[in-house]
Amino acid sequence: MTEITHAIRTPIHPLWLRLSHWLNALAVLVMVASGWRIYNASPLFPFRFANDLTLGGWLGGAIQWHFAAMWLLVANGLLYLLVNVASGRLWRQFLLLSPRAFCADLKAVLHGRLSHADPRRYNTAQRAAYLFVMLDILLLVLSGLVLWQSVQFPLLRELLGGYEVARYVHFFAMAALVAFVAVHLAMVALVPRTLLTMIRGR
Ligand code: HEM
Repeated sequence: MTEITHAIRTPIHPLWLRLSHWLNALAVLVMVASGWRIYNASPLFPFRFANDLTLGGWLGGAIQWHFAAMWLLVANGLLYLLVNVASGRLWRQFLLLSPRAFCADLKAVLHGRLSHADPRRYNTAQRAAYLFVMLDILLLVLSGLVLWQSVQFPLLRELLGGYEVARYVHFFAMAALVAFVAVHLAMVALVPRTLLTMIRGR
């Protein structure tokens, strides 16, 4: 098999990645919508989220949705990380970046035209955004653990500044995730063929 046929036959996004991506999107949607309902029961700020945008109907129902989706988010996230680390993909696709490629991408960003020419390789902006959201979800899970089992995780609780501060950390990490999703959807709308590859693999 020539290199070209191999490249054509190998999916851009393998099946495990697509499954993991869409399960993660579902878990995030459920967690955010139920989280807003939980927030409404005891708001940190002088506003509430519109009930129509929330999930669970009432505090108890929202907590059940939140905990159910939490297992999906964590199990799926761990599997995603495991495959990415074990296969070296995390390093190749997200971390390894030659100074030359970085400068070229930086120049393109400043000129307002960042390339999507090679769908197998993410540009610097994509790498930065995806690494950011991975770390942000990690922070959401860790601060969530403190809110859920504060007594069982005293070190984590103190590292996050105590229970009350962990609530703010959890809120702002949620806000950052929602901002990521908004930009992510705008980028997908700008380059719709990337959506097809995330669905069909090619
Ligand atoms: C809701 C939370 C979401 C999160 C946290 C998220 C996160 C990510 C991440 C980390 C990647 C890179 C995956 C990898 O290569 O390992 C990615 C790729 C992608 N996502 Fe999402 N995503 C979300 C929702 C969505 C939704 C709703 C859509 C479409 C409507 C979407 C469309 C895509 C597409 C098309 C790609 C490939 C982009 C490309 O080739 O540059 N995502 N997403």
